[in-house]
Amino acid sequence: MTRSLREAGEAAGMPIGAAVAAKALKADAGYRNLLNREFSLLTCENAMKMGPIHPAPGRYDFRDADLIADFARSHGHRMRGHTLVWHNQCPKWVDHGKLPAKQLAKALDAHIRTVVARYRDVVSCWDVVNEAIGDDAKPRPTVWSRTLGAGYLGRAFKTAHEADPKAVLFYNDYNIEEVNPKSTATIRMVEGMLRSGIPVHGIGIQGHLMADRPPDWKKVKANFRRIGELGLVMQITELDFRIKGRPTAQSLRRQADATRRLADLCLESGHCTGFVWWGATDKYSWVPGFFRGYGHALPFDRSFRPKPAARVLTA
Ligand code: G3I
Repeated sequence: MTRSLREAGEAAGMPIGAAVAAKALKADAGYRNLLNREFSLLTCENAMKMGPIHPAPGRYDFRDADLIADFARSHGHRMRGHTLVWHNQCPKWVDHGKLPAKQLAKALDAHIRTVVARYRDVVSCWDVVNEAIGDDAKPRPTVWSRTLGAGYLGRAFKTAHEADPKAVLFYNDYNIEEVNPKSTATIRMVEGMLRSGIPVHGIGIQGHLMADRPPDWKKVKANFRRIGELGLVMQITELDFRIKGRPTAQSLRRQADATRRLADLCLESGHCTGFVWWGATDKYSWVPGFFRGYGHALPFDRSFRPKPAARVLTA
């Protein structure tokens, strides 16, 4: 009997997880069964982001986040909290950028304290800040940086740590799998935060990748090593290996081989504490809507059948 991803991840000491879509969780029993059988570390694809959960000043909408958290609680899952501070999916009352610094800082503190406290029994780690470095490897200009200055990152991590001293706190970003200007800027930024005594514990590597153009594995290994040298943990937080056009035996094989390589490098690093796909099944994936002509990026197909990428980790 083939092991599930959940069993394989727990046996390897690297929990395997998936992002959860609230709407699908409500409506699709097959999806709920798949999440329970195959994954042990869940994250909300959208429900815990500031826009959906904090739509108006002082007003929270916990319904979708509670639905996913309650599902996790009742099925023995742990959770990744995604995400406390991001420039995207901000509520309009923040996004319009008209709040004075003092008011925005107070609102951010209250947001972090409220959300972290509510889920501290089930969320073991948080993406405190997401994507603060631009594609140019420079600090990304956002409503947070423009209004509060670069210090907003440290404020957010300190507030999250006060709200839940047990939580493992991550900085999360994309295109930082390999050694490249953006991952180097990330390392430098986090190094500076550590020197200032800011409680950053890990780096989240999103892993939005292409099956037929996998990363340079030597550069990935070197990047994983330097994260460990900082005394940080790391997690793969949003993995998908998108395939162009219709999947073929060859493209599915490539996807499986890349998944295996990445998982092996994570395990060999000795400091990877999670391996999370950005969804469980191709039936609910952001990829086709965002990358035109691409899809089939997740470990289970639209009918919840395991693809080779799912089985390379359970053999
Ligand atoms: O819930 C509303 C719905 O009420 C409305 O009718 C509909 C049409 O406007 O929009 C729905 O919200 C959408 C939401 O997904 C839920 O489906 C947003 O418009 C849409 O922008 C949002 O996209 C999400 C995207 O982040 C936002 O940037 C994707 O699902 C989600 O997969 C994606 O995830 C991000 C990570 O959080 C961070 N890393 C990159 C990753 C991919 O962009």
